[in-house]
Amino acid sequence: MAEATETDFYDKVFPVPERVREKSYVKSRAEYDKLYKESIDDPNAFWAKMASERLSWFKPFDKKKVSDWSFEPGKVHSKWFEGGKINVSYNCLDRHLADKKNKAAIIFEGNDPNDWKVYTYQDMYREVNKFANVLKSLGVKKGDRVSIFLPMIAELSIVMLACTRIGAIHAIVFGGFSAEALRDRINNCGAEVVITCDGTYRGSKAVPQKATCDKAVDQCPGVKTMIVVKRTGTEVAMKEGRDIWYEDLMAKADRYCEPEWMDSEDPLFILYTSGSTGQPKGVVHTQAGYLLYASMTQQYAFDVRDEDTYWCTADIGWVTGHSYVVYGPLCNGFTSILFEGVPNYPDFGRFWAVVEKYSVNNFYTAPTAIRSIAKEGDKWVDMHDISSLRVLGSVGEPLNPEAWWWYYNKIGAGHCTISDTWWQTENGGHMILPLPGAIDIKPAKAMVPFFGVVPAIMDEDGKEIKGPGKGALCIKKGWPGITRGLWDDKEGRFEENYFSQFPGYYFSGDGAERDADGDYKITGRVDDVINVSGHRLGTAEVEAALTSHPDVAEAAVVGFPHDIKGQGIFAYVTLNHNVAKTDELKKALVAHVRKVVGPIASPDQIQWADGLPKTRSGKIMRRVLRNVAAKTFGDFGDTSTLADPAVVDDLVANRKKLG
Ligand code: PRX
Repeated sequence: MAEATETDFYDKVFPVPERVREKSYVKSRAEYDKLYKESIDDPNAFWAKMASERLSWFKPFDKKKVSDWSFEPGKVHSKWFEGGKINVSYNCLDRHLADKKNKAAIIFEGNDPNDWKVYTYQDMYREVNKFANVLKSLGVKKGDRVSIFLPMIAELSIVMLACTRIGAIHAIVFGGFSAEALRDRINNCGAEVVITCDGTYRGSKAVPQKATCDKAVDQCPGVKTMIVVKRTGTEVAMKEGRDIWYEDLMAKADRYCEPEWMDSEDPLFILYTSGSTGQPKGVVHTQAGYLLYASMTQQYAFDVRDEDTYWCTADIGWVTGHSYVVYGPLCNGFTSILFEGVPNYPDFGRFWAVVEKYSVNNFYTAPTAIRSIAKEGDKWVDMHDISSLRVLGSVGEPLNPEAWWWYYNKIGAGHCTISDTWWQTENGGHMILPLPGAIDIKPAKAMVPFFGVVPAIMDEDGKEIKGPGKGALCIKKGWPGITRGLWDDKEGRFEENYFSQFPGYYFSGDGAERDADGDYKITGRVDDVINVSGHRLGTAEVEAALTSHPDVAEAAVVGFPHDIKGQGIFAYVTLNHNVAKTDELKKALVAHVRKVVGPIASPDQIQWADGLPKTRSGKIMRRVLRNVAAKTFGDFGDTSTLADPAVVDDLVANRKKLG
């Protein structure tokens, strides 16, 4: 698929195409530098201006309390725009009715190309108001949690906005998670209402959704109501007294619901994400700071204009979908495509068929999707007119050279720019990215910090590196989109996970390299988190799933290079005594992990290991496991602290046999 090699273009700088610059909000690096400097020299003045101009307030925030934050151990907190009262659904819908009521807000593009529907701002307003009344009629109040387990259908955006209208906190769980994973997330947030649907379309298949939700909710004693959207018509069991059809509730609902005016720092949503230790963490975002940050970055990262058609392919079950399918674009009054399907259905040209159908201008996807369609050949692109594209976005993992080149050259055809956006669930929105009209791009670099963001690169001694260098990527100053903490964080994991390693700094868990021009390249995770198809997984989660199988004594999981997924999951498994090492058992273990966590956590390779490389103090030397998995056998570094160095030879011999 690649015509260029790393050396062909890695040192080149690709200037902003004129066509991109023309429509851009920030038209030169000098202009970016000036704005950036303003944003960090007087952040409170900068953010106060942005918040006043961009958001509609019921009660203005206190100009003396624009921000109050600290990253110091023992004092970690972030508060933005205190004293203000605001409603997110009002900002995303009501305020656009005066001049945009008939403009497309959400374009729903179904799994089947013939199944599509445009929801204008008026349509969304009506549906959201009605569902807000439904929630109220079920007793849901401000501060209550609502769990949502839905695929990419328009109702997902409707129910989340309805939650915000009445001040309920939504906790969306990606539709591909297992019943057990869903159960844990519902119980953690204590939701009494769960919203799901009968079934989900995935390519040529219809997959049950409610059945999975039922299994989860059977073990959630706090759940009183399950609302079920009709999607596939799959037959489902409705539990008397608990389950109600969405459509029946909506048929009776009133058309207007007064918005609940929320404090800026009231929680908006909880979104679970994986860390290097323990159970997934419920990342909490609040109202005003998050909305401001998501909407501003959405506009600037892709240079979206009022007349544009913007498409972010992410699932709303992940943070990218929250910020860049729903909240960002709707707060800005833009048109956002909500895509139910997959890149290869009905064929590998689907993305480009959708781009052609709606004349998409700003397109945002993940490297794994780019790789999976690029490998099928150019003919799937050539059969569509994709000349409307102007800005191409990427997120979730580093873009490898071949994928970068294909995206730039084949999809962008030399007249688009690539906005490689680095950020995380905890950040609320983009942190490092090349603003399209301002920043000439260097392949596979995320380039420059967004306004107000102050990155720092730390060396191994915990000191900040000035100028060019490579190390751990931290953020030095508060910004409005940062998570306010973790839900139900009795053990203080928030401070421990993000603020203890480099006291005074937010630590991202990623590595980065800064070049002589001050531009950043993200080098990948430096902790025990892996990035599979742009989905973040804690190795500890997969290990816990494996060791919960009765035949498994111990397991160690690492990432390894994978052509399509970026990283695959490689599991070393030590079996209990007298258990036979069979291929059937490998299959059973994969099925077990799928059941416990979900298909995204399926190990790609399992290697039997009678012993794991442990230090004398019992710590697994993961570096060795990573290198063996990647077959970089020559490079194990210092293994002298291993309790039994012979283990490494066994691992290598078995890895070679595995192929
Ligand atoms: O490792 C980084 C990677 O994805 C992680 C965040 O994952 P999550 O919270 O699930 O959010 C994904 C979408 C925002 C980061 O710690 N990552 C994200 N964007 C990039 C990236 N790695 C390299 N380049 C990126 N552009």
